[in-house]
Amino acid sequence: MKKIAVLTSGGDSPGMNAAVRAVVRKGLYLGLEVFGIYRGYTGLINGEIKKFDLGSVGDIIHRGGTMLHSSRSEEFKTEVGQLKAIDQLKTHGIEGVVVIGGDGSYRGAQKLTEHGIATIGIPGTIDNDIPGTDYTIGFDTALNTIVDAIDKIRDTAMSHEKTSVIEVMGRDAGDLALWSGLAGGAESIIIPEVPIDIDGIVERIQKGTERGKKHSIIIVAEGVASAEEVVEQIQTKMNLEPRVTTLGHLQRGGKPTGFDRVLASRLGAYAVELLSGNQAGLAVGIEQNKLVHHSFDEVLGKPHQINRNMFELARQLSI
Ligand code: ADP
Ligand code: F6P
Repeated sequence: MKKIAVLTSGGDSPGMNAAVRAVVRKGLYLGLEVFGIYRGYTGLINGEIKKFDLGSVGDIIHRGGTMLHSSRSEEFKTEVGQLKAIDQLKTHGIEGVVVIGGDGSYRGAQKLTEHGIATIGIPGTIDNDIPGTDYTIGFDTALNTIVDAIDKIRDTAMSHEKTSVIEVMGRDAGDLALWSGLAGGAESIIIPEVPIDIDGIVERIQKGTERGKKHSIIIVAEGVASAEEVVEQIQTKMNLEPRVTTLGHLQRGGKPTGFDRVLASRLGAYAVELLSGNQAGLAVGIEQNKLVHHSFDEVLGKPHQINRNMFELARQLSI
């Protein structure tokens, strides 16, 4: 293995830059030639590939987003698109690729592996929904952004004695809603993994009112319903005028936390160690603070699980 490349793909996440930096610097440290591929699989197909040196990744460790840019490529899902990408890699003599992204990007990485390119995946998504790792890069930053927003909304909800419904990201996974709901002291948390219980939510609001509490926070993951839809459902059961906030893309931006930078640095370097040892077809992760790797088949074959005890704890603490 002499030449490797790195790309970022799918939804961006804070800490992706720190991971790119780690891949490039660890590769150069080991004496490899390292290339940056711009715009994910789209850029790979189009040959947006540049040789990197130490300075190419200077001054990015603290920045959100990804300096390599990201994309979603329908073309790469086709055999024709994949063959174009392989041609580009062959033209540059690149034998190994590090893909930083979510589960969709991992499916693409698996295709590269099947076409004979040694590929390693690094979990980069705010959703924390990739099996085989306790945390994905960007989750901690997004969590803290959401908690900060909940705290601010709580101040005004308390002052005006209102209920607030806050919609957070998570199309298929409830980790952001669950963790931020627990950390923000939400009365109710609605996530894709647990059937929605409007009667239970209404009961909690009413119990709170009975003990003199006039404001409450409800967190909903976007994959279940919009904040407006939750309000409509509550209003079929009780007379209430909740405030609504959809946090949207601000959850994906911002400078990465120290935790995400450390995680990204460790995973980036580990991915290169595996590649340089001629190991491939693997997704790296962290389990109980130890670096681990699993095959793409294993990671993609498992459903994402939420921590049910945490969900129950949040319910118990918000009575
Ligand atoms: P994420 O990686 O954040 O989950 P996506 O699901 O949008 O984001 O996937 C990112 C990109 O990965 C897609 O736009 C596509 O180019 C590629 N990809 C996803 N699924 C496949 C697949 N089954 N085969 C090949 N490429 C795929
Ligand atoms: O990256 C994952 C994610 O943040 C999901 O939680 C969300 O549904 C999706 O990306 C939205 O991405 P976009 O608006 O770029 O399609």
